Amino acid sequence: MEFKNITVVVENAIGTLTINRPKALNALNTETLKEIQLGIQEIKETAGIRVLIITGAGEKAFVAGADIQEMSEMNSIEALGFSKLGHFTLKMIQDLDRPVVAAVNGFALGGGTEIALACDFIYASENARFGLPETTLGVFPGFGGTQRLPRLIGKGKSKELIYTGKMITAQEAFQMGIVNRVIAPASLMEETKKVAAQIAGNGPVGVKLAKMVVDGGFNMDLVEACSLESYAFGLSFSTHDQKEGMKAFLEKRKPNYQGR
Ligand code: CAA
Repeated sequence: MEFKNITVVVENAIGTLTINRPKALNALNTETLKEIQLGIQEIKETAGIRVLIITGAGEKAFVAGADIQEMSEMNSIEALGFSKLGHFTLKMIQDLDRPVVAAVNGFALGGGTEIALACDFIYASENARFGLPETTLGVFPGFGGTQRLPRLIGKGKSKELIYTGKMITAQEAFQMGIVNRVIAPASLMEETKKVAAQIAGNGPVGVKLAKMVVDGGFNMDLVEACSLESYAFGLSFSTHDQKEGMKAFLEKRKPNYQGR
């Protein structure tokens, strides 16, 4: 599919969705959010993709937020719709039945931090900057920042970032537990692809079920969540990949997973 503000490339079972709107540092306008939805749908329908990487085009920005020019002309009802559009798009990313890794290569502000938070985990280049500066614009985060960030790092640190609107470095984001790894800018994509390849080499059904159970169990109490895990664990034994993975171990060879 041809897009204006994103690209989707597939290479060795790894999809890369790049947000590419250089004139606005990859800011998310309505058109770009709708394209991301179409891109995610296309990836969902491509069985050969086992892991998705989301990044930003260029060296300066991952995503510099929701589009301020577009938002500046919205009334309340339009802003409500825009927030819902952002939420729907980020939920598509979060619910994709394969791992999604954010490779944050520069400014990830407002909607940029929020889209990264919708991914399974975040790798960041040393020059990445995170923040939720919406209160400096007279509003507050509208694409999940008030909800996903506290669930990841707790309420106190999230409130500090949201109330101050301050920008933090990749290293600070790492120390807070927002980012899993900080990488030299020139190596960010290579290192992210390496981990994506490692995941893609594992049993796709097991990885998919693990994502469903971690996310699905997160807001349950421990008893219910462990029960969900048991049922999904049992389910995994009905698959080709479970038989192949364990047989390959016992035969001392590499497994040939088929994702079924
Ligand atoms: N929306 C629209 N355009 C944006 C943008 C955004 N979020 N961020 C940057 N741009 C545009 C700038 O207006 C500028 O355009 P022109 O060249 O036409 O003037 C271009 O991108 C380059 O930006 P700067 O000249 O500002 O670049 P800089 O290096 O001086 O600063 C920056 C970089 C610190 C990222 C700065 O651009 C900035 O602060 N951007 C806004 C960040 C922000 O507040 N994001 C949150 C948005 S609100 C939100 O996301 C709401 C939500 O939760 C739903």
